[in-house]
Amino acid sequence: MKQIVFFGGKGGVGKTSCSASYGMFCAQKGLKTLIVSTDPAHSLGDIYEVKIGGNIKELDENLFGLEIDPEAVSNEYINRTKAEMQKTLSPIIIEEIERQIDAMMVSPGAEEAAIFDELVKIVGRYTEDYDIIIFDTAPTGHTIRLLSLPELMGAWMDSLISQRREAVELMRMSTAGNKDLHDKYVNDPVLSILVRRKDEYERTRDILIDSKKACFVFVLTPEKLPIIETQKAISILSKYGIQIGGIIVNRVLPNTVSDEFLLKRKHTEGTYLEEIYRRFKGMILMEIPLFPEDIQGKAYLKRVASMYKDII
Ligand SMILES: Nc1ncnc2c1ncn2[C@@H]1O[C@H](COP(=O)(O)OP(=O)(O)OP(=O)(O)O)[C@@H](O)[C@H]1O
Ligand SMILES: [Mg+2]
Repeated sequence: MKQIVFFGGKGGVGKTSCSASYGMFCAQKGLKTLIVSTDPAHSLGDIYEVKIGGNIKELDENLFGLEIDPEAVSNEYINRTKAEMQKTLSPIIIEEIERQIDAMMVSPGAEEAAIFDELVKIVGRYTEDYDIIIFDTAPTGHTIRLLSLPELMGAWMDSLISQRREAVELMRMSTAGNKDLHDKYVNDPVLSILVRRKDEYERTRDILIDSKKACFVFVLTPEKLPIIETQKAISILSKYGIQIGGIIVNRVLPNTVSDEFLLKRKHTEGTYLEEIYRRFKGMILMEIPLFPEDIQGKAYLKRVASMYKDII
């Protein structure tokens, strides 16, 4: 059994429906389950019909939910970093670094960085408390960038750390006559924050690429674009060493359709299903039928949960 399962896929294919119902399945099996939404446009709360938000909320027996708010986490991250610096650095340096941080936080990828930061915290904090953590992610592109961040962040942190080391060394030498200032730079708080964060990123990356602990499940519908997008995403994730836990084929038309239009659609779907089973041989976990209604509310989620056979 994996401790961490990501659900991903193209926009609108059913990621939230599948992760929410899988969460229900795990909870019903007696696993203490945490389901986390990393999609800025949260719909986890909508599907469970409760308000979730940034604090863990009990959704059902054994089942807990959390929605990461990217804006709130990035603001919190900036303020925390600024506050730590204010304690230790001269006002001129603070102004310069604050400008750099502000610029960094509006640069492309900053929101993913903040979400990843939160993901690192969640993995670090809650893997002990929960048997399984399920991540309901944003559409593929966003999530792939998110999961590739440990690599990028690692290289970026390395360069920040070495720059900071050089700066600290210079400051330490120039303050040799002033014991107070000298001591400050010997135990440079910025450097220790950077090193600590790099350690956290590395620990998270180690968990993400540990096939015994984490995997990524794709949801797709039997249509052309979701197939292409899933194929691309699988090859990128494999490059980063993240294990693919399988594929869920969602919204499969029932065999009972008789209407001419739906029969035609069923035929088209058949060719895509063939393609899916050919391209993703051995990876298909299950098919979920197209239901007459939206998947909404706990009762409906339980109905879908009963279709899962095994814990991934
Ligand atoms: N098998 C199904 N039968 C009927 N409706 C479905 C099915 N799967 C999903 N839906 C409906 O399709 C809509 C989109 O599903 P969902 O929100 O789970 O997709 P998503 O991949 O999470 O979307 P997004 O990319 O916006 O996060 C919802 O209204 C959901 O109820
Ligand atoms: Mg969703």
